[in-house]
Amino acid sequence: MAYARRKALDMTAEHLLSDLPQLRTPCVMVIFGVDGDLAKRKLFPALYNLMSGRFLPERFSIVGLDRAEMTTAEFREKLDRVIGDYLPADVEQSVWQALSERVHYLAGDFQEGLTYRRLNDLLQQVDASAGTGGNYIFYMATIPGLFGQIVMHLGEYGLTVERDGTWRRVVIEKPFGHDLESARALNRELQRVLQERQIYRIDHYLGKETVQNILVFRFANGIFEPVWNRQYIDHVQITVAESLGVEHRGRYYEEAGALRDMVPNHLLQLLCFLAMEPPNSFAADAVRDEKAKVLRGVVPLSSLDVLRFVAFGQYGPGTAEGKPVVGYRVEPHVAPTSMTETFVAMKLFIDNWRWAGVPFYLRTGKRMARRLTEIVVQFKRAPFMLFRKTAVDRLAPNVLVIRIQPDEGISLRFDAKVPGPTVRIGTVDMDFQYADYFGNAPHTGYETLLHDAMAGDATLFQRADNIELGWAVVQMILDVWKSLPGAAAFPNYHSGSWGPPEAEALLKREGREWWDGGRA
Ligand code: BG6
Repeated sequence: MAYARRKALDMTAEHLLSDLPQLRTPCVMVIFGVDGDLAKRKLFPALYNLMSGRFLPERFSIVGLDRAEMTTAEFREKLDRVIGDYLPADVEQSVWQALSERVHYLAGDFQEGLTYRRLNDLLQQVDASAGTGGNYIFYMATIPGLFGQIVMHLGEYGLTVERDGTWRRVVIEKPFGHDLESARALNRELQRVLQERQIYRIDHYLGKETVQNILVFRFANGIFEPVWNRQYIDHVQITVAESLGVEHRGRYYEEAGALRDMVPNHLLQLLCFLAMEPPNSFAADAVRDEKAKVLRGVVPLSSLDVLRFVAFGQYGPGTAEGKPVVGYRVEPHVAPTSMTETFVAMKLFIDNWRWAGVPFYLRTGKRMARRLTEIVVQFKRAPFMLFRKTAVDRLAPNVLVIRIQPDEGISLRFDAKVPGPTVRIGTVDMDFQYADYFGNAPHTGYETLLHDAMAGDATLFQRADNIELGWAVVQMILDVWKSLPGAAAFPNYHSGSWGPPEAEALLKREGREWWDGGRA
C-alpha cells in the first residue's frame, strides 16, 4: 500500500508541474478596485503563485485603478506593506518583487469618462514599454453596482474592441445581480458592449480543485456512474457551513443574506457538477450546456413548498472556535431588529430521468459548528431479509462523502462484519485524503481561474443563461420570504450550532438526518 501510494504521488508531482501550461500570449490585467480587499486577499496572492510557478506570460503587466490619489510608486509601497499576510509563509521575495514591478497604478473615478481616456493612454504606454501586445483582461473587483457602468465606459472608449488579432476580456465578480430581474438586466447591459465569449463571470467555487474533481471522480471512473441515479441513490445533501460570522461585511450582507450570497452561485454549482449528465467534451459550451439542463430541471417551488421545504435561520450569540461571540444583530452595520437570514436550508428535486424523486437537501450558514463544505450521497439500503434471524436490527446505508473543504477528500462508508462468532455489523470508512497523495500546494482558488481567463478557456466560468437559471431557482424563495416579514422568530440558532431546529425538522420528518461531518 505504501509503495502504491508513493508511486501515485511521484506521477502526480510530475503531472502537476506540467498541468498549467505557461501562457504564451502577452497581456495586461487591468484591475478595477485594485486598492480593495479582493485584490489583496485573492488576486495578488494568486498572481504571485502563478508567477512563482512560471505560468504567467513573459510579457505581462498589471494596471490597477482605484479612487485614492496615489502614484504607482506609492501604491507599490502600500501593497508591499500589506501583502505579507496573504502570501505563502515561504514567499520568495524576488518573485514578489518581479510581480510588484509590473504593477502600474491609475487614480480615477470609475464613473467619469476622463478616467477611461487616461486608462487608454496608460495602456498604450504599457504596451509600448512592456510589449504586452494590446491584449487586455479587465477585472471587476469593485462594488457590484459599478460593473455595468465600467463596461459601458470601456465600450465608449473603444477598449473592448478586438482589433488586429488582439483580445479583450472582462471578468465579472459575484454577486451577479441581486435577483433574476437584475441579473437579466446586467447581462443585457454587458452584451450591449461585449460578445458573450468576451465575458468571464467568476464563481470562485469553480476554482477549487475539489469541486473540479467532482467531474473527474464521476466521469473518469467506471464504477460510480452506473449507480449515480434514482435507482440507487436515496438522497443527496450539500452543506456549505462556515464558522465565521458576517465579519466586517454587515452592510453588504444586510442586503444580501445567506440565500442570495451562497445559493444561486456556489451551492448550485455543486449541485450542477454532482447531477449533470456527462458532457461530450470538456469544451466550455459542452459543460455549460449540461449545467444549464440541470438547472432547468429543478422543480419550481410553489409558495406552499417554500413554507414547507425551506428553513431560514439567523445566528444568535454563542461560540466560535471555543470563544464567545455575539449574535448577528449586534455585528457592525447590522440593524438591531434585522430579519436578514444567515442560514438557509431547502429541499429541491430535479425532474429528469436520472433524478426524478431523489431529494437534494441544500444548506448553508454562517457561525455554524465548524467550517465544512461537503456533499453527501446516501445510497438506498440493501434488502434486510438475510439478516432477519441475526442480532442485526438494521443495515446502515452506504454513504459517499465528497469533502470539498477543509480536510479535502472522499470517503465511502459501508457495512462490515464485526469479528466474532455471531453476526454483528459495524460501519467502516474507506478514506481518501488529498493531502496524502497530492500534498498541500499553496493556492487561493483563483490561480486556475485567472490562468483560464488569460488563456481564453471559459469552461469554469458562468454563461449568461447559467446565471439566470440559477437565479430562477431561488426567485420564488426570495419572493415568498420577502412577503412574510417576521415569519421566523430570529435569532433561532446559537453561534456554534448546526443551524435552527427547522432545518433539522426538514429531514427528520422524512426519516433522515443531516450528516454534519460524520454525525448522521
Ligand atoms: C463568498 C461569500 O462568495 O463565499 C462569503 O460572499 C462566503 O459570504 C464565501 O464567506 C465562502 O467562500 P469559501 O471559499 O471560504 O467557502
